[in-house]
Amino acid sequence: MRTKYKQWAVDLLGEHPEIVIEKIDLKDEFFAKGNLFVEFGSGKGDFIVNTALRHPENKYLAVEKVRTVAGFLTRKLLDQKVENVRVFANDVALLFDQLPDNYFDGIFINFADPWPKKKHAKRRLTFHTFLEQYYRLLKNDGYLIFKSDNDGLYEFTLEEIALSKFKLISSEEDYKFDESIDVLTEYESKFRSIGHKIHRIVLQK
Ligand SMILES: C[S@@+](CC[C@H](N)C(=O)[O-])C[C@H]1O[C@@H](n2cnc3c(N)ncnc32)[C@H](O)[C@@H]1O
Repeated sequence: MRTKYKQWAVDLLGEHPEIVIEKIDLKDEFFAKGNLFVEFGSGKGDFIVNTALRHPENKYLAVEKVRTVAGFLTRKLLDQKVENVRVFANDVALLFDQLPDNYFDGIFINFADPWPKKKHAKRRLTFHTFLEQYYRLLKNDGYLIFKSDNDGLYEFTLEEIALSKFKLISSEEDYKFDESIDVLTEYESKFRSIGHKIHRIVLQK
């Protein structure tokens, strides 16, 4: 669903350089030390905000290319005084060249846009060129967790994984949400409430 442009949300991004980064500064303590996790396509941020609140010992990078949406996420971080998240309000592809190998402890991809037309397959966040980058960026033993309600994207992702170097730890067609290990995303809440099955894949480097 397209989000209507909101000037206040876009302005907020520029008003908070302590949260919203234009590029990764690997010398900045936030990016230089500790356990760092990333979510690609964070949306309005329910998942990353609540995960970060639950794990103050970790650091999180939220990547969201729609600036209004990234502004909503930033508003939530400010309102809930979350200090262990940074926001990159741009396309995930612009991040890759900025980052070294073996960098993240974990990667989350929640309800990525399915791009159902075959001619758009390259845009899917689990297209093999993306998986190659994720593999490079993860530390050894680091994991990638994917959730989606979309059957086509789930099947496509499993096919791309089979051609990758990743170890497939689990793939569940009907993943039962477990609050002790997981946090709901806004799309997940919506789709669960209308009875969609949620698919989940866990990979390890
Ligand atoms: C369907 S929404 C899901 C949002 C959230 N992860 C959730 O589960 O509720 C997908 C989000 O990914 C963002 N997105 C898609 N492709 C992206 C890309 N290449 N770089 C950054 N963000 C992207 C979209 O703008 C959108 O907000």
